[in-house]
Amino acid sequence: MKIVYKLVSVLTVWLLIATSMLAQNENEQLEISHGPYLIEPGFDCITINWTTNKACQSWVEFCGDTNLGTFPKWGGYPEKVYPSNQGLLEANTTLHSVRLIGLEPGTIYRYRVMSKEILQYNPYEVIYGDTAAGEIFEFETLSNAVSEFSFAAISDIHERSKELDKLLSMTSPDSIAMMFYVGDMLNWIGDEERIFNGMVDVSVDRFATTKPMILARGNHETRGPEARKLFSYFPHSSGQYYFAFTQGEVRFIILDPGEDKTDDHPVYAGLVDFDNYRTEQEKWLEKEVKSEAFLKAKYKLVMCHIPPFSKSTAHGATDITKKWGGIFNSAKIDLIISGHHHRYSLIDSDANKNNMPVVILGQDMLLNADVKANAINIQVNDIEGNEVDAITVKSKP
Ligand SMILES: [Fe+2]
Repeated sequence: MKIVYKLVSVLTVWLLIATSMLAQNENEQLEISHGPYLIEPGFDCITINWTTNKACQSWVEFCGDTNLGTFPKWGGYPEKVYPSNQGLLEANTTLHSVRLIGLEPGTIYRYRVMSKEILQYNPYEVIYGDTAAGEIFEFETLSNAVSEFSFAAISDIHERSKELDKLLSMTSPDSIAMMFYVGDMLNWIGDEERIFNGMVDVSVDRFATTKPMILARGNHETRGPEARKLFSYFPHSSGQYYFAFTQGEVRFIILDPGEDKTDDHPVYAGLVDFDNYRTEQEKWLEKEVKSEAFLKAKYKLVMCHIPPFSKSTAHGATDITKKWGGIFNSAKIDLIISGHHHRYSLIDSDANKNNMPVVILGQDMLLNADVKANAINIQVNDIEGNEVDAITVKSKP
């Protein structure tokens, strides 16, 4: 009888908590809870992600400078893009992702995110609630006509968002075309608040509403019960964490080295398949370095969390040297930017090993790169603003 009484008490408490949470959520005003943040930029495209505190249908309104009209706030009538998949407009979700395509290269667009609450979604009756409108921000599409631009890179923050914020305060969104996060920005992937608290929110505050962030996944971002959902927060049209794109005369290649230990290491509990994944990227890389976009680029840069050339004897490091190192050398990659070791080092090019310098970013460092017609000037600073290193990278003939 005592057990039944206890069970009823526990159930009652749970019911009260659930009811009060539901009531609390119902009383909350609809709001854009995180973002918007820009990802996957291109000559004619960009992706905008954000979340709302309630399930919504969402869209993006945007407008170029040339669409002159009578809507004074925008300078023209905004176009609307509703995300669509398999014949259905995306709806009834709190995470929203809209890819704008068909844009003009090197062009400034204004945009705002819009979300309409779905109060009830029954098979034959959908009831809508309030609509939340985001602020109007601007972004600029990439272009191969740009002769000079700058970018920045940070790695291994491991969810210490205060340190990330301080590093980001050392650069201005106006001065960079994009920000690279070279892996291990998070410790592991759990609920989405870890992603936002750990790295995205401060990025939004500092730059990500106007400049894209490019995540080169690190080994820590493959860990945790929700690691398979991280891609929804950093989607890429390739469907992969490895991809390439061009800005100006630079071809950027982003690779994903996976974990550092062997796939059968007990810590992964039989749930990883990185040997095959690295081989898959080897095959993709062979094609990429033969592509017109790669061959045409003056500078070829690789972003890869684990340094592909180092003294490390860990399995992940040696596997990528074996699978990708020869391709990097024969394709005349000009520079590799990595992290993972938490201590800064520069591996000079070595005719017998790596034909290009490898910058290994330390923890709490900011890399600023100025791409010029004759060289890329790179400066690495620590979190106090002290210069750690400065190097000049020339394009290989
Ligand atoms: Fe790492």
